Amino acid sequence: MSGAAKRSDALSVSGHPLFNDRKLKLGTFSTNLSGGCAISKIDGVLKADWPSTLRLAQLADQMDFEALVPVGRWKGFGGETNFNGAGFESFSWASAISASTKSSGVFATTHVPTIHPIFAAKMGTTIDHVSNGRFVMNIVTGWFKPEIEMFGRAQLDHGDRYKMAEEWLHLVKRLWTEDAEFDHDGKFFQIKGGWCQPKPIHKPYPPIMNAGGSETGRHYAAKHCDVAFVVFNSHDPDQMRKQVAAYRDLAREEYGREIKVWSYAYCVQAETEKEARDFYKYYVHEKGDWVAASNLLDTLGLNAQTLPPEAIEPLKEHFIAGWGGVPLVGTKEQIVDGLKNLSDIGLDGSLLSWPRYIEGMEEFQRVTYPLVVQAGLR
Ligand SMILES: Cc1cc2nc3c(=O)[nH]c(=O)nc-3n(C[C@H](O)[C@H](O)[C@H](O)COP(=O)(O)O)c2cc1C
Repeated sequence: MSGAAKRSDALSVSGHPLFNDRKLKLGTFSTNLSGGCAISKIDGVLKADWPSTLRLAQLADQMDFEALVPVGRWKGFGGETNFNGAGFESFSWASAISASTKSSGVFATTHVPTIHPIFAAKMGTTIDHVSNGRFVMNIVTGWFKPEIEMFGRAQLDHGDRYKMAEEWLHLVKRLWTEDAEFDHDGKFFQIKGGWCQPKPIHKPYPPIMNAGGSETGRHYAAKHCDVAFVVFNSHDPDQMRKQVAAYRDLAREEYGREIKVWSYAYCVQAETEKEARDFYKYYVHEKGDWVAASNLLDTLGLNAQTLPPEAIEPLKEHFIAGWGGVPLVGTKEQIVDGLKNLSDIGLDGSLLSWPRYIEGMEEFQRVTYPLVVQAGLR
């Protein structure tokens, strides 16, 4: 597409925390599920209970984190921990979390084949009103086959999943923006007299996120979404920088759009680097639930196209450590340097997680966050 890059529709409207001018935006990841992001048998990993998930949302809100990103998950990954098996449904979670926070962007994650677009548009609108315009919709096409089958549905092939997601999002956007009733007779959905009132608070509609890593997924995010998430297939800074730039360039060059590009990282902090590395060894290598991690990566490898096959095995320990995120391991100063590196490679924001989520995030707020601000990242 020629001409100057246009801003995407949702980006053109200010006021959403996701589009503030902080250098590196921050968020939390998977605070609605047992285990959070750490596939480990250590004590202190996140429990799926309301006081725990609420505590994490409030800590994030106190630090003005821009994103609270739950995971849409219907089944666990087995192993001794049945990692992520217990957890809160993300739309109802987002509604209650919105009522309990003041400043953070609140996401909900929809599995396209499991939620009808009318229902999703209406739930999203409700959350946008509860949060006073802080809602973000995360679209997931459904790579974890057992949970799609649990709904009595056959998993579509990869290409069709994104075609369905395209039709789905088109309908949600229409419901969010059009006043008159409309009919729709598509490949995946039929609607008679479709209508949704009130409209969301954020205009023209809430920001849309997607984290597809496949070629089709990247095009989907670049064409239709406002925020894309990169899963890095290597932690080499030059490679990471290239992956971020490629996403941005794809949106600009093919679709004339500007998108925000985020990723995610896990923090293991201690007084000394050695202590942090020793703790990493303990919770990943000694106490990691490698069976659950293998189950997760086997199904991801078979059903998603996010990571090249040769990248999966070396990344396994990072999945155990923090869902495959970028490692930030060391002293508080090293964590801040790591965050600065994420900004330097071109990311707009990063989700964070801690193996002992609550304890780790409380320490981050107390001793690390002031240094993040001092470093000019916030
Ligand atoms: C930050 C982030 C959040 C994600 N949230 C979910 C989720 O809630 N549920 C889910 O099934 N997949 C989730 N995913 C997986 C991706 O959305 C995507 O579906 C997967 O990578 C497969 O897409 P692909 O085949 O296009 O790479 C998430 C990924 C990332 C990086």
